[in-house]
Amino acid sequence: MAKSAAKPAQRTKSAASATAARQNETSRNGANVNGQRHAAGLSVARGTPERNQRDSLAGIWDYAPAPETSKVTIADRYGLFIRGKFTEPRAGKAFATINPANEERLSEIAEADGADVDAAVSAAREALPRWSSLPGAERGKFLYRIARRIQERARELAILETIDGGKPIKESRDVDIPLVAQHFFYHAGWADKLQYAFPGRSPRPIGVCGQIIPWNFPLLMAAWKLAPALACGNTCILKPAETTSLTALRLAEIFAECELPPGVVNIVTGAGATGAAIVNHAGIDKIAFTGSTDVGKKIAMAVAGTSKRLTLELGGKSANIIFDDASIDQAVEGIIEGIYFNQGHVCCAGSRLFVQEGVVSEVVRKLRIRLASLRVGDPLDKNTDVGAINSREQLTKIEGYLRLGADEGGTLCQPGSAALPKKGFYCRPCFFTGVQPSHTIAREEIFGPVLAVMTFRTPEEALLRANNSPYGLAAGVWTDKGSKILEIARKLEAGVVWLNTYNKFDAASPFGGFKESGFGREGGMHGLRAYVEV
Ligand code: NAI
Ligand code: MG
Repeated sequence: MAKSAAKPAQRTKSAASATAARQNETSRNGANVNGQRHAAGLSVARGTPERNQRDSLAGIWDYAPAPETSKVTIADRYGLFIRGKFTEPRAGKAFATINPANEERLSEIAEADGADVDAAVSAAREALPRWSSLPGAERGKFLYRIARRIQERARELAILETIDGGKPIKESRDVDIPLVAQHFFYHAGWADKLQYAFPGRSPRPIGVCGQIIPWNFPLLMAAWKLAPALACGNTCILKPAETTSLTALRLAEIFAECELPPGVVNIVTGAGATGAAIVNHAGIDKIAFTGSTDVGKKIAMAVAGTSKRLTLELGGKSANIIFDDASIDQAVEGIIEGIYFNQGHVCCAGSRLFVQEGVVSEVVRKLRIRLASLRVGDPLDKNTDVGAINSREQLTKIEGYLRLGADEGGTLCQPGSAALPKKGFYCRPCFFTGVQPSHTIAREEIFGPVLAVMTFRTPEEALLRANNSPYGLAAGVWTDKGSKILEIARKLEAGVVWLNTYNKFDAASPFGGFKESGFGREGGMHGLRAYVEV
């Protein structure tokens, strides 16, 4: 039975007036380069009079609902994608996937056990000789075809991603899915040029790759793993995260449509035990994992002493550094982009903010105003800035950190008074001031819309504080001075450093961490190295 997935927005207040329509227009015009964030509908108040005016207008003016209304069909039940076909799991087990925005059940997903993983590994192993010996240009054709089909089905994929995971539709539509297509296009281009990526060597595929991905960018992480693996001639077993399997299963349909040879990609669904069965399977040559540092460490231990290759992309606690010579309004947008994008469920989120002392009061004042203008709620509403937290467990975890932050002496600022939807998992974006580097919220990955604000006096102190973390995934630097940018970027222990911007991604740009954020790179020429023997 097919279900209609798109639901009308649930908004308590709606002023479907010309005024509201004009505000929507303002919002669209205010989109940044990537269209990822929209400026406040009501203009950002800079001084007290405007702020008072804004506050007095809050509740009178509101956005009219702008729900995404296209229908997406979701099957009642999904099997495992093995050898090019959907099959029932051997043990017949399944689990539910829900919409975190309203807690409604969406579908039932097969739970793969060791025997199913074994079947997927056999399929990948059998498909390997033909796939790996295809001329690169022929493999590239498959990848181009898949990329084009993803573009054609982009709207459906964006809606499904939002319904299953809770991210705002404007992010899945404008960021996730376009990047998914871009990763397939980009790697299609490499398929017949691998010898140029490794001059003087003869790159060969590694073999059968087990790939385990998280729930924060479900389809994008699938693309980051599958596209380079396939371009390099490997075959794959992919396991999506248990709360967000639907788009990976839709991708399986696209592979079948594009006549990708059976067994080249197998998709097995399930939770940690299924992941562990992949990690421990003797027939797998390489494990690629993105997820929590705790699970990453377990995987590293399981793989140690075997011949399996391993790449890990783990957690982060990335520093976003604002110098007093930065363009402050621009930096405030970068802070918002850095920590509230995708509800803060971003491994490279700029969750530690370091502001130079002279501008801290200005930054905090503007941040509070900007935060109050973020719209939290129905992820399918095109005006929503911050959607639903991915799961009840994750919401509980975030709320625990909010209590801990206050207990340890931080001051919580969580503006915004509009009602949140009654069902579903939501957390208003917020920040803490009065945070010390020793506080738990300044050290641990929260993976939610929670920012820790700290200060520094000199560039040396900024560097010391930024690098004082077991993690090293990303960082941001905001300054007007080119020389400062180059000097600081060189000394930051982070895999990616954004300069006067944040959270920008491109298939041609390698991504990956230092220290406990993992090892190996994904994307760009560097990312190919993880999928070849040279
Ligand atoms: P997780 O690391 O448990 O899940 C990631 C993936 O690993 C999922 O597909 C899961 O099924 C799989 N997995 C779990 N246990 C496994 C095992 N023993 N062997 C193999 N695969 C296994 O993350 P979880 O529990 O969903 O989230 C917990 C916390 O982890 C979050 O609050 C967040 O702080 C962090 N996290 C970080 C991510 C990142 O990209 N940096 C992504 C997801 C979570
Ligand atoms: Mg779900």
